[in-house]
Amino acid sequence: MSGHETLVVGLGDRSYDVRIGEGLIGRAGEHLRPLLHSPRVLIVTDTAVRDLHLPTLQRAFDAAAIQHQTFVVPAGEGSKSFNSLASLCEDLLQAGIDRRTTLVALGGGVVGDLCGFAAAILLRGIDFVQIPTTLLSQVDSSVGGKTGINTSTGKNLVGAFHQPRLVLADTSVLTTLPQRQLLAGYAEIVKCGLLGDASFFNWLEGHGRLLIEGDAQARRKAIYRACAMKAEVVAADERERGQRQLLNLGHTFGHALEAECGYGDDLLHGEAVAIGMVLAFELSAQLGLCAAEEADRVRRHLAALDLPTGFERLCSRAWEPQRLIEHMRRDKKAKDGRLTFVLARAIGDACTVDEVAESDVEHLLAERISEIYPEASSTVVS
Ligand code: GLY
Repeated sequence: MSGHETLVVGLGDRSYDVRIGEGLIGRAGEHLRPLLHSPRVLIVTDTAVRDLHLPTLQRAFDAAAIQHQTFVVPAGEGSKSFNSLASLCEDLLQAGIDRRTTLVALGGGVVGDLCGFAAAILLRGIDFVQIPTTLLSQVDSSVGGKTGINTSTGKNLVGAFHQPRLVLADTSVLTTLPQRQLLAGYAEIVKCGLLGDASFFNWLEGHGRLLIEGDAQARRKAIYRACAMKAEVVAADERERGQRQLLNLGHTFGHALEAECGYGDDLLHGEAVAIGMVLAFELSAQLGLCAAEEADRVRRHLAALDLPTGFERLCSRAWEPQRLIEHMRRDKKAKDGRLTFVLARAIGDACTVDEVAESDVEHLLAERISEIYPEASSTVVS
């Protein structure tokens, strides 16, 4: 089992490995075998990943004499719904599960969150393993045990903390990932540098382009560093009572943008986070928390890699600051309807700020929106 690096998410008797390297799906049988209570797994994947990576995983389980059965959900955010969850749970129960059964999530964030939540609630909790196949899920959603679905009120509002038994991040699958998906995942890597590791952000400024263009070493190093930060934060604050909130840098703005765009292809989660991080740094600068040059530097790096940094690519919509603020009030971090943001004192030094005045947020949003609709600039709040 060589050719990979291992990190441990230290949570006592629920600790688990995050293994990162090339070709791990093809060796998944040897990696999973020692963890299984019975030599049988149920794989959950989606229609896109099924065609790309499922055969390799099935061969790996066959080679390790692990019985397997596969359940396929439609690709896309729509599968993170009550309806999909209900039919997946019914199908898994009908296939015959008991408390020794292990589920395997093969796919991106949608499959990982859905399968993980099913594992959390079936028979009051069974084991699951994450095999993330997108950059975003390798560096963020597969690690840390957040599972759940979306509701009509917002994203990830129903769910559970349920840690996987193992995460296998096979970096070779990234070669089949569309460029846009790769960039969306890259935004979450940048987030790690911005929130707590300025030297990592410096490194990304020098190596981000290489990583996006396919340099395997740069990819592996960035994934390792992002997962190492996440593992450390999750071990210290599994249930997001303090430090883990920092992992939501860019997400208060980002989730509001996604909610307005309808969680579809118009705006991917990582793209929303990229815009959200720029807005969070700009808000920090506006409030005098950090220097304006820091916000410029964040924007420049993301723009240099062709990630969105504002409303420019979303100009076919009529954006209204108040509608975005309404979404923010429903954010999981909001307390009694008051807006909470992860802001920054500098690159690599994020902090949670509870009492941000709505007028400050409205001012920033109105200003940014007016840049794409110059005729509406009278809406800017002074
Ligand atoms: N994606 C943020 C977290 O896992 O806490």
